[in-house]
Amino acid sequence: MNQSEPTLEEAAASALAELSSISTIEALESLRVSWLGKQGRITDALKTLGKIAPEQRKAEGERINGVKQRMMDGIAAQRSVIEAAQLQQRLASERVDVSLPGRGEGIGTQHPLTRTLERIVDIFSQLGYVAATGPEIEDDWHNFEALNFPPDHPARAMHDTFYFPDGRLLRTHTSPVQIRAMLGRTPPLRVVAAGRVYRSDSDQTHSPMFHQVEGFVVAEDVSFADLKGTLAEFVKAFFEQEVEMRFRPSFFPFTEPSAEVDIRWGDRWLEVLGCGMVHPNVLRNCDIDPERYTGFAFGMGVERLAMLRYQVSDLRSFFDNDWRFLGQFR
Ligand code: PHE
Repeated sequence: MNQSEPTLEEAAASALAELSSISTIEALESLRVSWLGKQGRITDALKTLGKIAPEQRKAEGERINGVKQRMMDGIAAQRSVIEAAQLQQRLASERVDVSLPGRGEGIGTQHPLTRTLERIVDIFSQLGYVAATGPEIEDDWHNFEALNFPPDHPARAMHDTFYFPDGRLLRTHTSPVQIRAMLGRTPPLRVVAAGRVYRSDSDQTHSPMFHQVEGFVVAEDVSFADLKGTLAEFVKAFFEQEVEMRFRPSFFPFTEPSAEVDIRWGDRWLEVLGCGMVHPNVLRNCDIDPERYTGFAFGMGVERLAMLRYQVSDLRSFFDNDWRFLGQFR
């Protein structure tokens, strides 16, 4: 044996002396493997036992096993030290400061558009209107054709329709619910329908998605005077104060005559709804006899009415979902 090579005891003693500087389980494990693993120093030493004289074997075996035991004890002790240190570290980093104030929970509010929409529908429910709904994805027939928009009629272009590749579309108004509510029913009918509608249009007073409430009455002897009276009552109930309104002659393919209603907003007029007497062709498309029945219909913009009621000047604030804005509507 080379003189300069340390004995097993010496090597073990210096390894044990260095143990306390090992601070990770991984480093400790590689030390353990180099001593006690299948090709470790102890294992190697034990393999030599077979080659030595039988009378020396017992003493030599005890010597090697003594070193093995010291190494095992030393490594186990250092493992406990490392694990205790790691636990301390984890406890320190995961410490919960129970004296910190809580985050608190904000209480939600109903969206101003939902409130407005429900308010409008409520008012008409009290007048005996029955609520109806229709799909937001519509077909051309319900959204246009049955409402007396002939194919290629310029009024279709005014709607800036979002189309699907298969020809279906996002409804551009709630008027198709008129068709769905009239089909298969016999007058008298009094229906209110609220929901989302879509047009490719966006600025301070237009959003590509907005809300409308549609209402219509079909019965015997319904007149334009009934329409005017109904809307005047509605406006009074909705704003709970005197507001100036004006009927302006207009055009819709599905009503004749037609009008738009504006409401005074400061020194300006803001258009809030379209209306008119249900066109005979629309009644016919729904198998209702226009010789016997007449009706009126109206469709109003919920955002516009909410802007007026809550003094909101930019329609887009309804869709920004800024809590500072929404939280004001309690
Ligand atoms: N659907 C029309 C629009 O969106 C409004 C309207 C409804 C007009 C009912 C007349 C009758 O502009």
